[in-house]
Amino acid sequence: MATKESQAGKLVRGLVSAFKAPGTPAAAAADRATPLLDARKAGVEPTVKQLQQAAKDNMFLHFTRHSPYQKGEIPIIMKAQGHHFWDQNGKKYFDGISSLFSVNAGHGRERLAEAAAKQMKTLDYFPIWGHAHPTSIELSERVLSYAPKNLTRVFFTTGGGEANETAWKLAKQYFKLQGKPLKHKVITRAVAYHGTSHGALSLTGIPAMKKMFEPLVPSTFRVPNTNWYRAQDQFETEEEFAMWAANRVEEMILFEDPDTVAAFIFEPVQNSGGCFTSPKSYFKRVREICDKYDVLLVADETIDGFGRIGTMFASEFYDFEPDMLVCAKGITSAYAPLGALLLSEKLFEPFKHGTTIFPHGYTFAGHPVSCAVALENLDIFDEEDLVGNVRRNSPIFRQTLEKLKDLPIVGDVRGEGYFFAIELVKDKATKETFNDAESEKLLRGILSHRMFEEGLYCRSDDRGDPVVQLAPPLTVGVDEFNEIEQILRGCLSEAWTKL
Ligand SMILES: Cc1ncc(COP(=O)(O)O)c(C=O)c1O
Repeated sequence: MATKESQAGKLVRGLVSAFKAPGTPAAAAADRATPLLDARKAGVEPTVKQLQQAAKDNMFLHFTRHSPYQKGEIPIIMKAQGHHFWDQNGKKYFDGISSLFSVNAGHGRERLAEAAAKQMKTLDYFPIWGHAHPTSIELSERVLSYAPKNLTRVFFTTGGGEANETAWKLAKQYFKLQGKPLKHKVITRAVAYHGTSHGALSLTGIPAMKKMFEPLVPSTFRVPNTNWYRAQDQFETEEEFAMWAANRVEEMILFEDPDTVAAFIFEPVQNSGGCFTSPKSYFKRVREICDKYDVLLVADETIDGFGRIGTMFASEFYDFEPDMLVCAKGITSAYAPLGALLLSEKLFEPFKHGTTIFPHGYTFAGHPVSCAVALENLDIFDEEDLVGNVRRNSPIFRQTLEKLKDLPIVGDVRGEGYFFAIELVKDKATKETFNDAESEKLLRGILSHRMFEEGLYCRSDDRGDPVVQLAPPLTVGVDEFNEIEQILRGCLSEAWTKL
């Protein structure tokens, strides 16, 4: 026995020394320079240069071309207040897109930090797996109070993609429990973005974003979106076009067989492609179609929700009742990660009985700190009437941006609330768009840099036709609209001359 133990001890000692031997991974880790950790231990702030180098050495940024950062500087955002943020060089920017369509109440709200601290001191964390906590309970009631009245339950997530993923999984299980196990397919709209996990990406209608990850989850199908600017030549009125677009949902259900289709997921105002709106008749018609074929209607309000388009939820603005509603981002104004899927009682009903569970969830979903922040954030919404601010000012925002239509490069200005897109064209009369190389030069070669240099942070995007998108915090007003318009005017005029 004693011999055996000493042999085991020898083996362990051998392994430990082998790991520390020069040239082994453990030795490399021990030798690695850690200037930021050293600064922290010494109780001093790291320098900007140290931060820059460490960012380049250690980070893999999301949706980012890293090649320019081999030589150039990574923008490091140091602080933010109201509708502004500042980079590592002290340069100030107008946050024209609420960072990522998220910081709806604006930056630097101390009371949200205090709400988080208070919650951490009371209950730092507990999962909502078989338990609840006061802030998640209160937030469920609060969020539902703004939602269409048929929605009665909240399934928390940590973001919008997870909530879409959840909607699809719930739809599949729901129909299995209804004795309709074949109903599993989902219809979504062209160019729409619904997230990056395998399921959510499969729902996404942007082939370029998906092709590196094929094969994705099968069983999703695309129908046209409501890009009225591009449809105007083929239809007399927007109503007529909207009816045509809605009827494509019915057509796809029939193509695929209603017995196999579980859901239609769409954004009331579609972000990707550039703020595609629809007349109310579109929503009425897709609701009718979904009812006719027992297909669940899911509104992805990840961006549209929490005041962005002038009501708490876009479903209210467009006066329709989805079976499920996805929300995230503005729920906490991005001060803490949180998403939610709101659902009707019909979908929850099977889970009230026997041993049936929905075997799905996330460690950080409904985090008590995120829920506390969300509640405080929604208090700010109420106290400052942020949604009313959007509703009152949206027409002025639109008019201000429409002034840009006098520029040769501006083909269309569209959107709703505080959510607008400016479509850029090569020829206004024919609506000819830019080819891939031109679009690359225009958006990435010229516009993004120029807008950033001029201190305006907004999105220039060519997931559809090239657009510049604006979604400022819901706190801004006329002065800020004018500031945005002036900066854009300069940058767009300059871009036109450089093409
Ligand atoms: C409409 C829509 N759905 C889903 C998502 C994914 O949300 P998240 O990044 O929180 O997973 C986004 C993100 O921008 C979105 O705009």
